[in-house]
Amino acid sequence: MDIQRLMQQRKSVRNYLDKPVLRADIEQVIQSAGLAPSAINLQPWEYVVTYGEEKDRLIRSLKKLHSIKNVSCGPGTTEPLPDKYSKRSKDALKVMGPQIEKLNLPFNRFIEEGSCSFYGAPVVIIVVIDKIFPELRYLDVGLSVSYLLLAAEEKGISTCPIGLVTDYGDEIGDALNISQDKKVLLAIALGYENEVAPENQIRTDRAPLNEILTWYE
Ligand SMILES: Cc1cc2nc3c(=O)[nH]c(=O)nc-3n(C[C@H](O)[C@H](O)[C@H](O)COP(=O)(O)O)c2cc1C
Repeated sequence: MDIQRLMQQRKSVRNYLDKPVLRADIEQVIQSAGLAPSAINLQPWEYVVTYGEEKDRLIRSLKKLHSIKNVSCGPGTTEPLPDKYSKRSKDALKVMGPQIEKLNLPFNRFIEEGSCSFYGAPVVIIVVIDKIFPELRYLDVGLSVSYLLLAAEEKGISTCPIGLVTDYGDEIGDALNISQDKKVLLAIALGYENEVAPENQIRTDRAPLNEILTWYE
């Protein structure tokens, strides 16, 4: 499928079929993620994949931790967001709200508990970077993650990036035996979409071009 269609088609999926993903497909998706460009070809991204019993064990420990720490979903800023940005997140909530209401769950509970259980995805990918790198290199990892999401989409495999759990990065590291030299940047739920689930009928909007593009000529 052409890249433009893939980019338009990809969305975050928050309900998955109980259908395994082939290991070969996961490897190909990660291999595509590794094709991303990076500063002086450092390729600072690393991916840890878990599924089955180990993934379930991770979810149990995240849920336990979450019941104590109660991290909520937010922009991660210390200052209040300027209107332009808060409007975008409010608009997203407007699109998501009515679908989540159908599940008879409070919105925050759906997002927080759903994120901690990776929305029932059969596969979870943890994205890590060596702590030796400065934050600027997170950009390189972000590029690689974009490749990963699109490569999965191309195979008909859905994803949801999950940042909420990175507050529990140390515990994820412990559970998956990730070296303390690595920082957990993101989790990605991966699997086949349950196409009839209300929470998968969400299509978030994007800002118009004039909000993200400035010409200087
Ligand atoms: C870095 C990052 C972190 C995210 N964290 C979460 C999360 O913790 N929980 C969740 O449900 N969705 C999470 N998302 C998904 C966003 O909510 C989603 O990408 C956004 O609303 C746009 O919708 P779309 O992906 O369907 O286009 C995250 C996305 C990104 C890129």
